[in-house]
Amino acid sequence: MGFRVPGLLLSILLGLASSHPIPGKKSFNKLLLISFDGFRWDYDQDVDTPNMDRLAREGVKAKYLTPPFVTMTSPSHFTTISGRWIEDHGVIHNMMFNTETGWKYSFKTTQNKTEWWDNGVLPLWITAQRQGRKTASFHYPGGGAKYKGEAIQRSLVESYSHPNSNETEWRENIDIVMNWFTKEDFDFVTLYYGEPDNVGHRYGPETENRRVIIQQIDRTIGYLLEAIERHSLTEHLNVIITSDHGMTTVKKKPNVTEILLTNYIRYKDLVKFDIVDYGGFGMILPIPGKEEALYQALKNAHPHLNVYKKEEFPERFHFAKHERVLPIVMFADSGYNINGRLIIYFNKGDHGFDNVHMDMKTIFRAFGPDFKKNHLAEPFDSIHIYPLMCKLLGVTPEPHNGSLAVTQEMLVASHDQQPGGEMQKTSALRNTAIGLGVVTGVLAVLFVTSVIYTAVRRKKKQRADQNNKNEPTHLAQLPKTSF
Ligand SMILES: *[C@@H]1O[C@H](CO)[C@@H](O)[C@H](O)[C@H]1NC(C)=O
Ligand SMILES: *[C@@H]1O[C@H](CO)[C@@H](O)[C@H](O)[C@H]1NC(C)=O
Ligand SMILES: *[C@@H]1O[C@H](CO)[C@@H](O)[C@H](O)[C@H]1NC(C)=O
Ligand SMILES: *[C@@H]1O[C@H](CO)[C@@H](O)[C@H](O)[C@H]1NC(C)=O
Ligand SMILES: [Zn+2]
Repeated sequence: MGFRVPGLLLSILLGLASSHPIPGKKSFNKLLLISFDGFRWDYDQDVDTPNMDRLAREGVKAKYLTPPFVTMTSPSHFTTISGRWIEDHGVIHNMMFNTETGWKYSFKTTQNKTEWWDNGVLPLWITAQRQGRKTASFHYPGGGAKYKGEAIQRSLVESYSHPNSNETEWRENIDIVMNWFTKEDFDFVTLYYGEPDNVGHRYGPETENRRVIIQQIDRTIGYLLEAIERHSLTEHLNVIITSDHGMTTVKKKPNVTEILLTNYIRYKDLVKFDIVDYGGFGMILPIPGKEEALYQALKNAHPHLNVYKKEEFPERFHFAKHERVLPIVMFADSGYNINGRLIIYFNKGDHGFDNVHMDMKTIFRAFGPDFKKNHLAEPFDSIHIYPLMCKLLGVTPEPHNGSLAVTQEMLVASHDQQPGGEMQKTSALRNTAIGLGVVTGVLAVLFVTSVIYTAVRRKKKQRADQNNKNEPTHLAQLPKTSF
């Protein structure tokens, strides 16, 4: 049972509204989501970034953003685009793997593999398309797959030979995306860059190389700002700039004792399949019957290695419930790589560690007609970006784990009253405005009534449920799928 607008009243209201359409105006602004892989939250603090500084003044900057665990590219990007925890969406690693054949597919190879991405959770591209929006992906992880048989209207997948840091190509990509918005009327585009992740791995986060690539990113953001003006999109395009995880310096011998699993276990006796040698995270499928032996052998093996049985993995990570997660799950303390049979590891920086570490935190910036200016937001979890994007695009979200309440304060107050920007001042349109004002007024009254009604019901229900719930009340109270 729920609150209903009386049928007659509703049809009058709808009739009033639809007889005065605003010509050529959409009820929402366009949205560009840009991800710079591996952009740690504080990378702009030891180098000049005039364009990012300008963005902070002209838009929203969060102090930092917490990515989901595992702090890895494909899993984290898919949380951003779906609003679901990794254990729900099932993209649990950058590598796709098959425990029977032993095959592992690289990050790039998985980009075309629908079976790695399409696990029942719909990314925003598909949901928005189904609601009439035109969407595209430019190199964004997951953009090359089909979901329930449906492809993204336009998708470019990063080629194997794609250069990571060609600044000219970066600018060309922005031009291409701007043309998608203006010439082809796309509503939602996701754009991905593989830096500064690549440089962070190769040289380490505390290096001049990293500072240089951050300046290149900052110039690219400057180019983006120019391009938005050049294409007259300033009043019509919202932009979110974010990333998937941070980066920390890898700890190596002789400074530390490195983690090498073969020092503690006999592989051929205990291990059927493993995913290790991939930063600070690893999983093992034991030989049948050897689960306990493997767990006991590894549990206290190294002071900086955390080993869990899948079912005992801490809930707060929202990671281990998925069927793809192997029975033994491990993560190392910040900076320690998990090596398997030998140390073949040459990265100077890495990620994949616990998302509580500041080095794993990343960035969130946003600007455009619907965002406040000069607004410093408190830190939040990237899971909340999804409902924000749905709100901006006027799209009804799928069930998700985020909450709009966390991010809504970033939006200008008039967002609900004046979607889509300015109105021309012809008298016909003024009448429409008055008409819509009346409609809004009536709807507001109905809304308030319904809110009070719902609140009373919820209060009653809550009282009844109170002793059964472990969740904090403020979370339990937030409607998960509503704006
Ligand atoms: C993905 O598929 C497209 C189209 O078949 C192909 O051109 C491209 O090389 C593939 N990319 C990767 C990374 O497999
Ligand atoms: C960088 O990209 C531009 C434009 O795509 C291309 O013309 C140029 O050759 C590239 N430079 C390098 C060093 O690959
Ligand atoms: C060991 O630690 C020192 C001091 O922190 C550092 O300068 C050096 O690069 C480290 N060596 C290795 C191999 O990590
Ligand atoms: C995440 O959202 C899904 C869909 O609403 C729900 O089934 C799941 O229980 C949620 N997970 C958590 C940890 O709240
Ligand atoms: Zn990386």
